[in-house]
Amino acid sequence: MKGTYKAVEVSEQGALRVVERQVSEPGAGQVRIRVEACGICHTDAATVTGIYPGLKLPRVPGHEVVGRIEALGSGVARWKIGQRVGIGFFGGEDGVCEPCRRGDIVNCQNPVIPGVTVDGGYAEVMIAEARGIASIPDELSSAKAAPLLCAGITTYNALRNAGLRGGDLVAVHGIGGLGHLGIQFARHMGFRTVAIGRGREKEKLAKELGAHVYIDTAVDDAAATLQRMGGARAILATAPSGNAMGPLVSGLAARGKFIVVGVPQDQMQLSAFPLVFGGRSIYGSLAGTAIDTEDALAFSVLENIRPMIETVPLEEAADGYARMMQGKARFRIVLVTKDGVAREASTNG
Ligand SMILES: NC(=O)c1ccc[n+]([C@@H]2O[C@H](COP(=O)([O-])OP(=O)(O)OC[C@H]3O[C@@H](n4cnc5c(N)ncnc54)[C@H](OP(=O)(O)O)[C@@H]3O)[C@@H](O)[C@H]2O)c1
Ligand SMILES: [Zn+2]
Ligand SMILES: [Zn+2]
Repeated sequence: MKGTYKAVEVSEQGALRVVERQVSEPGAGQVRIRVEACGICHTDAATVTGIYPGLKLPRVPGHEVVGRIEALGSGVARWKIGQRVGIGFFGGEDGVCEPCRRGDIVNCQNPVIPGVTVDGGYAEVMIAEARGIASIPDELSSAKAAPLLCAGITTYNALRNAGLRGGDLVAVHGIGGLGHLGIQFARHMGFRTVAIGRGREKEKLAKELGAHVYIDTAVDDAAATLQRMGGARAILATAPSGNAMGPLVSGLAARGKFIVVGVPQDQMQLSAFPLVFGGRSIYGSLAGTAIDTEDALAFSVLENIRPMIETVPLEEAADGYARMMQGKARFRIVLVTKDGVAREASTNG
């Protein structure tokens, strides 16, 4: 035992509170990370509100975590003490379920999920499975790297795995933590990029992020506008609104793909017509593995893609979370620990 550390836990549904916990040793195959930064993802709401199936409280949320390894469990050979690493939503596979046995580990049926099945990164210290961690490039500060661990990998993987070609018309719906990175990835992957938001307020930012065109659903029918542009080859749906997603499918070109990454609480209403007449498809995409995340981080360095963030001290996690839920984050709120602040002072990126 090595003293105590600060963490922010969900002690009862809806309540985030700062607690002091005992530092423990990493088990076999695990590492202990001294956390520097952790992004606040909308999915954290599933932990805070307690709706995630099988969730047990108290639980420390957070799955956009960056920090330094300070202890290695037995059998961990690949990683070194002091190395800067990150951990996202996909924290490790069981290796024995059918998808794992088929090599599809991101769809493991019994995954380790930081902030859900184990304590996550709203803390000064976190224990992670070594097989779930990603190396962080020196070019990225911890606070700027953190959102790439979930929002980044989720949008990057969804776009790069969609079979798109340079110049294709690609729309990103919802301009928040995921969407603002999705716009940048789409632009830098060479697509004709459309951002879809509600209201004019985000138009300027969306264009600065790389969108060629902005569609405001408060005044325009987004599906009709996309059709006038020739139809989207893909729509990346990040907004947590099933009601808003359904009608957008009609904005796809023939054979276009509607990629669902947002996880709304309400149901999606779908018309069969655009699916049948035009062979359009709709499917979901979940985050990505640690090695996929290293690709997303490398691509971000290569193309100079960075999240727009607001940093908040760890102790103010409850305020940061509330701002994110109110849609006030521009575009990701990142919790920083005292170690993160000290390091940040000596780096940029
Ligand atoms: N598939 C995955 O692996 C994965 C990974 C991470 C997150 N997620 C899910 O993805 C969703 C987004 O997460 P996030 O962290 O990006 O959330 P966020 O930062 O809160 O952003 C969500 C954005 O959606 C916008 N929005 C909401 N309703 C809308 C509507 N009807 N039309 C247009 N825009 C709308 C909001 O904009 P305004 O309210 O400002 O208009 C907000 O900017 C969540 O459901 C989250 O659980 C999935
Ligand atoms: Zn997330
Ligand atoms: Zn599995």
